[in-house]
Amino acid sequence: MNNSPKFIVFEGIDGAGKTTQIKRLASHLENLGIKCNITAEPTTYPSGKKIREALSGRLAVTPLEMAEMFASDREIHNAHEHDGINACLENGVTVISDRYYYSSLAYQGAALGYDIVARLNLDNVSIRRPDLCVFLDLTPERSLERIGARADVPTEIYENREYLEKTRKMFFDTFERLKARGENIIVIDAYGSVDEVAERIADAVLPIFE
Ligand code: TYD
Repeated sequence: MNNSPKFIVFEGIDGAGKTTQIKRLASHLENLGIKCNITAEPTTYPSGKKIREALSGRLAVTPLEMAEMFASDREIHNAHEHDGINACLENGVTVISDRYYYSSLAYQGAALGYDIVARLNLDNVSIRRPDLCVFLDLTPERSLERIGARADVPTEIYENREYLEKTRKMFFDTFERLKARGENIIVIDAYGSVDEVAERIADAVLPIFE
């Protein structure tokens, strides 16, 4: 087993179970002796809080400003001296991030065009390339079933079929472009029990540690 720390990103459409599966993977890796730290974007740093304000509509920003805010939050996510991605990797800790630049390329790319968002992220040397991106995939029908089943979470207005279809397509278009640049992206079928999906993910992720 190659114990060099890795940077792994999870992406997925609503209802795909990212949060649950990230925790499952981290505990699986920890059991194998691989230290892990879970992070997320937007971050909990001030730059991430500002994004939350913009997402909620309390802070009005243009689509370009939004893309820039995500990119600068991502730079801080990389560079933060205590628990940033670089610091963790230097300390031998694998990082699993809930979302990363794939979300920017998909969502902000849809508003601004791919090239601008690619320039802000892929051409930025302070934004590290992940070792692996795991995309949890669900058809819109199954995603809506899942969201509906989560009675504690109010169904958000945009979580409708067309929106989910469009988001999924934006991610697949992004992945085609990034695979052409040599990125390691795995699409996992997120339909099934938590255990079944966790096993699919572990089978896909473990080879990067071999
Ligand atoms: P969040 O509440 O964390 O959503 P989720 O639980 O689905 O991850 O909100 C993150 C939102 O920000 C989500 O709608 C996707 C969006 N986003 C972007 O548009 N661009 C980005 O670069 C990132 C990281 C997130």
